[in-house]
Amino acid sequence: MGNNIEGKVVVITGASSGLGEATARHLSAQGTIVVLGARRADRIESLADELIGRGGKALAITTDVTHYDQVKRLVDGAVQTYGRIDVMLNNAGLMPHSPLERLKIDDWNRTIDVNIKGVLYGIAAALPYMKQQKAGHIINVSSVAGHKVRPGSAVYAATKHAVLTLSEGLRQEVKPYNIRTTVISPGALATELPDTITEPDVAENIHKFYEAFAIPADSFARAVAFAMSQPADMDVNEILFRPTRQEL
Ligand SMILES: NC(=O)c1ccc[n+]([C@@H]2O[C@H](COP(=O)([O-])OP(=O)(O)OC[C@H]3O[C@@H](n4cnc5c(N)ncnc54)[C@H](OP(=O)(O)O)[C@@H]3O)[C@@H](O)[C@H]2O)c1
Repeated sequence: MGNNIEGKVVVITGASSGLGEATARHLSAQGTIVVLGARRADRIESLADELIGRGGKALAITTDVTHYDQVKRLVDGAVQTYGRIDVMLNNAGLMPHSPLERLKIDDWNRTIDVNIKGVLYGIAAALPYMKQQKAGHIINVSSVAGHKVRPGSAVYAATKHAVLTLSEGLRQEVKPYNIRTTVISPGALATELPDTITEPDVAENIHKFYEAFAIPADSFARAVAFAMSQPADMDVNEILFRPTRQEL
């Protein structure tokens, strides 16, 4: 493990597109073993095949992060296949922005279920193994929206603030087990995230914003690699980054 990345077993939720997919590609190219979870089986299976075709090690396990048993099956599958779990990347998320007065209660519920409960289920699935190993690294994905709220983003921002808070609580609690924790808060990155907006007028504005400001998803993958690649005695707790041209 010369670069502290090669040979590590990394479980990634939301690996079927965007940041999760970019991270799987980036880490696999550096010798990481990647275990890919998402609901779209065809996407993660073809990604795993592609990475294996390039000489990497990869496994796809269809996972809906709103069901704890499925997240546990993902992590258990990683440990059964590769003997350990070094990194849990709780990345799956959605962003169906809308003003609160539109009462998009189904959107609120889905956002809370995926963005908060999904992260908790990832922690629950990985922690017992990491405690036993006395080693591991849990990386959660927040957002600039975990630091700021704007009209239309209240529920999404609330979930991303929750991820920041959970990550700091986790950091303090896992010290006895030699587990590292990182929360990464990106700005606008070019992914399918704006497609999760269900209100057409809101979606149009956000798409325009992303077209003007977003940078490639690989920027996030490099942030993950940075946190992972530090020596074991260094715990990178928070990374907040934006496209250079993004003001908000
Ligand atoms: N892009 C940005 O500008 C940006 C900025 C800040 C933070 N983030 C955060 O980055 C993370 C990744 O988002 P992205 O930008 O890469 O968007 P994306 O391209 O839409 O990817 C989202 C991923 O989450 C997965 N997902 C959604 N619901 C799921 C569920 N119930 N179970 C399992 N997987 C589920 C999707 O897979 P399936 O649909 O196949 O299940 C997909 O792989 C999110 O947490 C997002 O909030 C993104």
